[in-house]
Amino acid sequence: MSVHNESIKKVSAKSLADMKANGEKISMLTAYDYSMASIIDQAGMDVILVGDSAGNVMSGFSSTIPVTLDQLIYHAQCVVRGVKRAHVVVDMPFGSYQCDEAEGVRSAIRILKESGADSVKIEGGEEFVGTIKKIIDAGVPVMGHLGLMPQSINKYGSYALRAKDDAEAAKLINDAKLLEQAGCYAIVLEKIPAKLATEVSKALTIPTIGIGAGNGADGQVLVMHDMLGINKGFSPKFLRRYADLHEVITNAVQSYITDVKSGDFPNENEQY
Ligand code: KIV
Repeated sequence: MSVHNESIKKVSAKSLADMKANGEKISMLTAYDYSMASIIDQAGMDVILVGDSAGNVMSGFSSTIPVTLDQLIYHAQCVVRGVKRAHVVVDMPFGSYQCDEAEGVRSAIRILKESGADSVKIEGGEEFVGTIKKIIDAGVPVMGHLGLMPQSINKYGSYALRAKDDAEAAKLINDAKLLEQAGCYAIVLEKIPAKLATEVSKALTIPTIGIGAGNGADGQVLVMHDMLGINKGFSPKFLRRYADLHEVITNAVQSYITDVKSGDFPNENEQY
């Protein structure tokens, strides 16, 4: 007997490959909690990323380095409860796969087993191909992540545009092909020249998802707090804000404070 909900078809790694083959762009957005994930899923998002950007926008850290596996599993559990259709992918946080392949496999399995998410995302190219293959062999679909890799901030020293020079661009193209050969079902390309992202996207059969990588990628991803205008301190050139929730929330909270102070809230209809 099937216990699946037959009425809503989940977006799978295979559906994303079909979207690329049919020329349909893939929409992806981050979420970290049940309520926002439900809204984003019902709005029709294809992929929800439980990103380690949770460290920045949920926890207030200045980088993604401190985020732990337990924290991302918690966020993923909350997101999964709110999602019926979108594919849910969870970041493998810094320190959960870099030491050895066995630890990478254990971390990926924990994420899927404890959260119910659909796949994991890993930052890195050639250096992590062995680990990625083992994780996929264990039954966990993997999304790659190349270009700007925020977990390596201490190695590179800045969040500037990546792969500007020929050598770095050639390495990125090679890494992307290796990730595809290893069995990744998609690759995030972060903050690289648009021309390079277009070239990589054309060279691969698996979809690429860009952030700050121009319009030639097969899909786009943004951090939810950035695109909704909650996090107003972050304004890179690539970001398009679709709302000003900072202002909406500030106005609502100030109106509530005013109404409480004046005694206007609650009124007769708002009491028992
Ligand atoms: O953690 C995250 O939100 C990400 C996106 C920026 C792609 O990795």
